[in-house]
Amino acid sequence: MKACIAGTGSYAPTRVLTNADLERMVATSDEWIQERTGIRERRIAATGEACSDLAVQAGKRALAAASVAASDLDMILVATCTGDYPLPATACLVQHQLGATHAAACDLSAACCGFVYALSVADAYIKSGMRHVLVIGSEVMSAITDWTDRNTCVLFGDGAGAVVVSASDGAQEILSTHLRSDGTLCELIMVPGGGSRMPPSEHVIAERRQYIKMKGNETFKVAVRSLEEIARSTLAANDLRVEDLDLYVPHQANIRILKAVMDRLGLPIDKVMLNVDRYGNTSAASIPIALDEAVREGRIKKGSLVMLGAFGAGLTWASALIRW
Ligand code: UT7
Repeated sequence: MKACIAGTGSYAPTRVLTNADLERMVATSDEWIQERTGIRERRIAATGEACSDLAVQAGKRALAAASVAASDLDMILVATCTGDYPLPATACLVQHQLGATHAAACDLSAACCGFVYALSVADAYIKSGMRHVLVIGSEVMSAITDWTDRNTCVLFGDGAGAVVVSASDGAQEILSTHLRSDGTLCELIMVPGGGSRMPPSEHVIAERRQYIKMKGNETFKVAVRSLEEIARSTLAANDLRVEDLDLYVPHQANIRILKAVMDRLGLPIDKVMLNVDRYGNTSAASIPIALDEAVREGRIKKGSLVMLGAFGAGLTWASALIRW
């Protein structure tokens, strides 16, 4: 049995935080942010709006697009690093809210690669007999962002994207998924406090260790190399060339990373889905939001060959090749 993406959906909180807003919060400028990252604005969850709230909205839209009832879902996977609670899994809250009474539910933690990792898990479960799996990437990055640190606070945003992965007997197919990790680079991006290594305490909070820390410049270089490597091996594994692609949907972290990858691959910009200017880096939500926008804008149609490429903390990197 093959697996395909039967429908997509996304949701972004209504509050918009612009670069001009950030100029009033830290020593930065709209010019620096746009030039170094390509970001103009990002969405921020309302007070009390949590990861599962965003995930449920995106999930409902994906189910509607796929014409699949929540009660027909076999499994719900939520890729996130900003779940509602340390436990239970956010996917269980989503399962309850959607009324997906027959679905197993769990979260998957692979930072910005979480969605592509979860897609590969869904693909494997469909191949072993499940019919419908809802895969959601949902993040409230604003909850782990240090709003006094200009190195990171200009980069991240909140949002959710979802796909329904279903059994397919037609031409639509997830052709392959490719997953990589290198834990020797775990310190490049991390939230050092609040876990079992350094449980929450007054000290953790005083030192602001509950927030994301990133060595941006080193991460940048590895990101470019890794995205190029995994794109080439994904195409080679399927006996395809860059020219065969209709659309590349990469993790939206930084426009300069993506331009460097496009240059190295010889991929023209009109074959790349870009929305980092409006959302910033939404971690696991980034690719499914971009995918949903591409579908709704008509940039992905039946028969399109689409490649996903993700990169993030861990470090991890991942890709998927999909015949729509
Ligand atoms: O999704 C997970 C994966 N994460 C990523 O892919 C992020 C990868 N890294 C990046 O996107 C970039 O490295 C950044 C956008 C984070 C930074 O850009 P950069 O060109 O690598 O800048 P840099 O870190 O080398 O810093 C250059 C300068 C520094 O000043 P000095 O030391 O040269 O005087 C920073 O202090 O820019 C300064 N700077 C800022 N200036 C104004 C850093 N952040 C800001 C800021 N506004 N927000």
